[in-house]
Amino acid sequence: MEKKELQDSIRRLVKEKNAVLLAHNYQRAEIQEIADLTGDSYELSVKASKTNADIIVFCGVRFMAESAKILSPGKKVLLPNANAGCPMADMISAEELERLKSLYPDAFVVGYVNTNADVKALTDVCCTSSNAVNIVKAAPSDKIIFIPDKNLGSYVKKFVDKEMIIWNGYCPTHHHIYPEEINILKHENPDAIFVCHPECRPEVVDLADKVTSTSGIIRFTKEDPHKKFIIGTEEGIMYQLRKNSPEKEFILASNGFICPNMKRTMLEDVLLALEKNRYEINLSPAIIEKARLPLERMIQMSTAVVQK
Ligand code: 13P
Ligand code: SF4
Repeated sequence: MEKKELQDSIRRLVKEKNAVLLAHNYQRAEIQEIADLTGDSYELSVKASKTNADIIVFCGVRFMAESAKILSPGKKVLLPNANAGCPMADMISAEELERLKSLYPDAFVVGYVNTNADVKALTDVCCTSSNAVNIVKAAPSDKIIFIPDKNLGSYVKKFVDKEMIIWNGYCPTHHHIYPEEINILKHENPDAIFVCHPECRPEVVDLADKVTSTSGIIRFTKEDPHKKFIIGTEEGIMYQLRKNSPEKEFILASNGFICPNMKRTMLEDVLLALEKNRYEINLSPAIIEKARLPLERMIQMSTAVVQK
């Protein structure tokens, strides 16, 4: 089937089945084009908690679809490609977090939303890249266990005067971008603004004019008067950047800025997901109950102070 035919068939089924198609900002352009809603991890989790649809088709990676299921346990949540995982989320297990908590029993556990459901269930509050600083600031303790992203953790640490025990995880896609590449691009494009995601290593973050979530980058580049931007995050964001600011120039900081997991989902997978109700996210009621609290607490805390 041709792209247009696939897209039309998907849209028809979405309507027929009273489904909603959510796509993360890193998804392939042809998927973002037909999504009902696109956004960063925070926006998508809020949207997933509010939808009236019977079926949520989540084009992203597994932890995102799991979060949607946790927030909407009565709905069918489908992850079109069962192999779309997040290597960073897999860098900490529930057993490892249990052990860490036993070493620091008085610490408050802030878990980046990029965690598996059984790990989330052991955290006190979740955060995303858009609200991590405010969540840690607002946490009711001066001792924080922050999991699993060491880069986001060290970014947050700059803004808070708290003891932070930071897990040694990282996003392979963002961590493998080095300051040398950015310096070359900056030298070649002295009129460009460098914007990056806080999952980048600290030496890269230090070179940035603006550090924010994927949707934060889309908003910032739209509102900022500059005309040229070096983009320090995954390639999929280029679709939204060009759509939102067609008159501006965007330079991806590296050709290697591709998350293989975010790219696994193809239009064919989305069509099959709707035709065959696959791959359904199933979590035990006990995990849903425990993991719901930190996610809901994050949404409550973020609505109190919105930081983008
Ligand atoms: P945000 O879209 O929340 O900025 O997250 C990026 C990410 O790495 C998701 O996997
Ligand atoms: Fe995970 Fe990084 Fe891919 Fe996001 S970009 S899904 S953090 S591996």
